[in-house]
Amino acid sequence: MPDQLPAILVTRAIFPEVLDRLRARFTVDANQDDTLLAPEELAQRLQGKAGLYCTPSERVTAGVIAANPQLRAICNMAVGFNNIDLDAATRAGIPVTNTPGVLDETTADFGWALLMATARRITEAEHWLRAGRWDKWRIDGFLGADVHGSTLGIIGMGRIGQAIARRSTGFGMRVVYHNRTRLAPDLERGANDARWVTKEELLRTADHVMLVLPYSAATHHTIGAAELALMKPTATLVNIARGGIVDDAALIDALRARRIAAAGLDVFENEPRFHPGFLALDNVVLTPHIASASEATRRAMADRAADNLLAIFDGRRPQDLLNPSALP
Ligand code: 8YV
Repeated sequence: MPDQLPAILVTRAIFPEVLDRLRARFTVDANQDDTLLAPEELAQRLQGKAGLYCTPSERVTAGVIAANPQLRAICNMAVGFNNIDLDAATRAGIPVTNTPGVLDETTADFGWALLMATARRITEAEHWLRAGRWDKWRIDGFLGADVHGSTLGIIGMGRIGQAIARRSTGFGMRVVYHNRTRLAPDLERGANDARWVTKEELLRTADHVMLVLPYSAATHHTIGAAELALMKPTATLVNIARGGIVDDAALIDALRARRIAAAGLDVFENEPRFHPGFLALDNVVLTPHIASASEATRRAMADRAADNLLAIFDGRRPQDLLNPSALP
């Protein structure tokens, strides 16, 4: 009897096959129109729902949680979960899950795509070509930085950072990294013999800096004016982590003044309404938060979030539980 099934809200359009899996077990309010829900709208639409299946576009604030004491599960379809007030959920006894692991390799591939496009000025050259400006070959046309043989600096050496480092062996690169905790020696070896250094040393020595760390109050503006000033004028910066890890206004100043050579950005402060200053720059490659966007990986993420939700309502421990103390 459908009206005896627990009710859940799926906040964004997702794959129909995953919705079918959820409909077999829940009464589903599916926002297949894909309209963005502000916290007040989310709090309202969650009324009477026992489960929330959401994405980083929704801010699951303490207010949303307080307005929905009937909520029993919050399952994010993403590895990052800074959109959820985890402390408030834990205090309310609500288990929260994310989708780690399934997107590591796809996201690492994309980090490389942005690095290559940024260092070799691919989108800038394509815009020029499309604008009909290709009149003749030039010896100094779109000279970029070499990637092979250079030093890659990775800030945030979790699973995705390590997958990026592994790919660097084919380019004959040295890898330095900075992370809160140093990796075990076997993991460092597996990550192209990555060497732990301070953030300052990394910024001073890397030819290409890649940001792969989670966002939190502690990592807000990990890269600001002071950090950009330490980087080589020939260096590139790639952010596939989260908006807010870079001070975007400071980065725009540094790119405009050519204090660093170029940046590749998949994430922004206030996305999707990012700083318009980026659009006036030719030394930045801009993509709309698509690092995990391969067909297979997005399906795996959507299924993983559904697996977590089903586990919670079946009384099992979900595999990606972020706040074990929320469960008895
Ligand atoms: C997208 C991500 O936000 O998993 C994350 O944390 O940033 C990306 O994979 C996600 O696909 C949106 O649900």
